[in-house]
Parts: sequence; C-alpha cells; structure tokens
Amino acid sequence: MEELKTNVVNEKRVQALAMDFLTVSQQAAIAAYPWIGKGKKNEADGAGTEAMRNQLNLIDMSGLIVIGEGELDEAPMLYIDEEVGTGRGPQIDIAVDPIDGTSAIAKGLDNSIAVLAASVKGSLLHAPDMYMKKIAVGPKAKGCIDIDAPLIENMKAVANTLGKSLQELTVMIQERPRHNHLIKQVFDAGASVRLFTDGDVTGSIATAIEEMDVDILVGTGGAPEGVIAATALKSLGGDFQGKLAPQNQEEFDRCMKMGLSEPEKALTIDEIVKSDDCFFVATGITDNMLMKGIRKKENGLTLTHSFLTVGGSVSKYQSIETYY
Ligand code: FBP
Repeated sequence: MEELKTNVVNEKRVQALAMDFLTVSQQAAIAAYPWIGKGKKNEADGAGTEAMRNQLNLIDMSGLIVIGEGELDEAPMLYIDEEVGTGRGPQIDIAVDPIDGTSAIAKGLDNSIAVLAASVKGSLLHAPDMYMKKIAVGPKAKGCIDIDAPLIENMKAVANTLGKSLQELTVMIQERPRHNHLIKQVFDAGASVRLFTDGDVTGSIATAIEEMDVDILVGTGGAPEGVIAATALKSLGGDFQGKLAPQNQEEFDRCMKMGLSEPEKALTIDEIVKSDDCFFVATGITDNMLMKGIRKKENGLTLTHSFLTVGGSVSKYQSIETYY
C-alpha cells in the first residue's frame, strides 16, 4: 500500500511544479511589458526569454526544452535541447514560447501572452521550430476531427456533434494569405470566421471555453505553439491534431535528425502530449481572449492575470490574479 502511494505521488510530480511555472510566466510577462508599442519585437522577446530562463533555472527540476522558439524568426531563444532547472527534482519536458505575439507587443496590439507547458520526461513532441498545420476543438467535439479531411468535412462533423447548423458555426483562423482558401470555405458554407492577427495558442484554447463561442481553430502556425496549445487542450478535455509542415529539404532533414521518421505524419493530441501529468500556464502581456494584460497600479504595484490548466484535474482551469 505504501509503495502504491509513493507511485501515485511520483506520477503527479510534474504537476506539483505548476505554481513555480506560474511565477515563470508572470515574470516573463512583466519583463516584456515595457516593450509594448515600442516597435521592437526582438527586444520584447529577448526580455521575456531572459526572465523566463532565469526563473526556470531557480526551480528544482531537471527540465529539458523539447520544443521552443527562435529558429523561425531568429529571435533570442530558449533553444531546443537546452537544460533548465537546478538539476534536482523531477525530470520534465518543457515547451516554451516566451512570448506568443511578439509582433502584437511591438505594435501595442492585444493578444500577447507569456506561455509554457510541461509534462513528464519523454512525453511532449520533440521537434524543430517550424510550421505546423493544426486543428483544435473543445471537449464537446472531441473525437470528430480529422486533420487530413477538407475543412468543410470537419465543419460538418463538428456542427453535427454540437447540434448546430453550419451557419451557426464559428471558425477561428489566423489572418494570413496562406489561409485564404480556408476562410473562403467558411464563407461558402455560410458559417462565421473569427480572424485574428497573432496568437494561435489563445485561439486554440478558446475552442474549449464555452463563453468564447468559438467552435474550431484551423490553420498553420508555429509548432511550439501547437504543442503548447495541445497540452492546454488535453487538460481542458478538448481535442487537437497537428502535422509538422517542413517548408524545405533542410527543415525536413532537421526533423529526421531529431528522430521523426515521418515528419509530415498526422499527430493526435495523445501523440503530441503522451501524459496526463502535464500543465499549461500563460500570463497576459496585453489583453486577450483568455485574460487581461499587465496593469500598473497607482500604488506602484504590478497586477498580472494568468491562466492555468492542469491535466486530469476537475477544475479545468484557473484564472489567477497576482500583484508584484
Ligand atoms: P511569435 O510571437 O512567437 O512569433 O508567434 C506569433 C504567431 O502569431 C503564433 O501565434 C503563430 O503560431 C505564428 O505567429 C504564425 O506564424 P507567422 O507569423 O509566420 O504567420
């Protein structure tokens, strides 16, 4: 009996770090705050990344960045295969995007968050930073998506499961020329689009939050953002499928080098996040669908708004306000 208890505790050891990671995303958001609206995307990313790394290195864990940002836009990075933490404590996989929405910060726009996700060692997709084709839905539509099927087929399946007509369906899509064909399919079906300029982690998660009134997210965006969103959706009971999208032979070869024998294979949520002992945490920098951004108070304090969701928990997600 004693042995069983110990195993259960060990099994959830990663989640025990969720509150430490909350501090990580909060500090990254606070560090990026002065760069809002300054037109300096890389400086904002650099400040968030440095704060994130410093905080991660204070945590008692053997953390490994399995997928991170940097190569796509040559931003300062928490690089893939970087080891973080004190080296004492659980071995864990970490997916980071110090800031999802660096362009949004630079332009003073909504929708930028500091974000990361973690899970048991060996359980998160270990892949290069490149594009990923994605589809995400909330818990009620779990099991009825197929990333290889045309969008209209997915829309019909989701509408059917939700008991909605196609006209009542809302599909979230990042406004990019590469998505024009998807936007057209939504218009042709008489459904609604909800377009956004940046931040597809937030958009993916919105599908799992009833009040957001978003049924599907589709499109191609960053792979780190895909893994991070999949972790959140796993915790929220939603669904996600992803397909890495190497843009050239070099990216394809990088996937092979990292042990992905079929780089363009369709991946289910359980192949991207293989454990329930996982969590997701994000802190708003500017306002977004899930939480407010940073607020400076007259008394000199800084108010942060965060969103935390833990795999296999009953409460689904917590909105957390913290003063610094
Ligand atoms: P970063 O701020 O990390 O660069 O990402 C912002 C973002 O909008 C992501 O949410 C999305 O996955 C990706 O960019 C899409 O890439 P692109 O801007 O090249 O279309």
